[in-house]
Amino acid sequence: MARHYLMCEPRFFTVSYEINPWMDRTRPTDASLAVRQWQRLRDTYRDLGHTVDEIEPIDGLPDMVFAANGATVVDGVVYSARFRHPEREAEGPAYQKWFADRGYVTHTAARTNEGEGDLLVVGDVVLAGTGFRTDPAAHAEAQELFGRPVISLELVDPRFYHLDTALAPLTADNVAYYPPAFSPGSRRVLEQLYPEAVIASERDAEALGLNAVSDGTHVVHAPDAVDLAAQLRERGFETLAVNTSELLKGGGGAKCCTLEIREAVRR
Ligand code: ARG
Repeated sequence: MARHYLMCEPRFFTVSYEINPWMDRTRPTDASLAVRQWQRLRDTYRDLGHTVDEIEPIDGLPDMVFAANGATVVDGVVYSARFRHPEREAEGPAYQKWFADRGYVTHTAARTNEGEGDLLVVGDVVLAGTGFRTDPAAHAEAQELFGRPVISLELVDPRFYHLDTALAPLTADNVAYYPPAFSPGSRRVLEQLYPEAVIASERDAEALGLNAVSDGTHVVHAPDAVDLAAQLRERGFETLAVNTSELLKGGGGAKCCTLEIREAVRR
């Protein structure tokens, strides 16, 4: 099925602060390379028949390229992001305004949450990460707003600080994930919900392979996640490797760059 995504060109991409273990201010970055890699990602989606809208990047917000963090959109309702770190705070209102200007109903979050970084829609439920960024109180706020069950999952490894770095929705009822990124109780919840899940290796996870985007048929992923890609192909998915190595310096991959806009469904 055709998807609708929002992306933000990394024109002002750099690593000027460190808020996750992937970021290192002393390592040089190349914004023009980041833009080229990002354009390939965007064009890959368009070639698959998806719609990609773009939000204008803002100078001084180098992480704005990570559009997934900008909001969560379910049934056309926009739950705004409210960032944990002051360096990213201004991104929340910027994304919310983009939606409000286009006539979407937006809800200003009362609780700290980093959009689809931690709130992943899988079929009729929302899987919600906590532990590093999103406040569990935001899980309840999202449940009340969307009227969908929100399942809290505790992240325990700082390298996998957002849920979308440790788990990728594949279809309406299956996911891929890296079990050691989760608390023991959360692992049991995932085993119960997704007995057929694709289990990623440490190597896949370290390549941010789980920061992948599935449209139910095709999965766009980091090229180094070779084991994961092989497993996905065995399950019948078509895998598309897109190199986003420059953005990895900020701690993000394909999914981080991609905010899904789920329009209201007429029932
Ligand atoms: N530098 C960003 C941060 O630490 C990366 C965000 C990646 N986004 C994501 N959806 N995981 O906040």
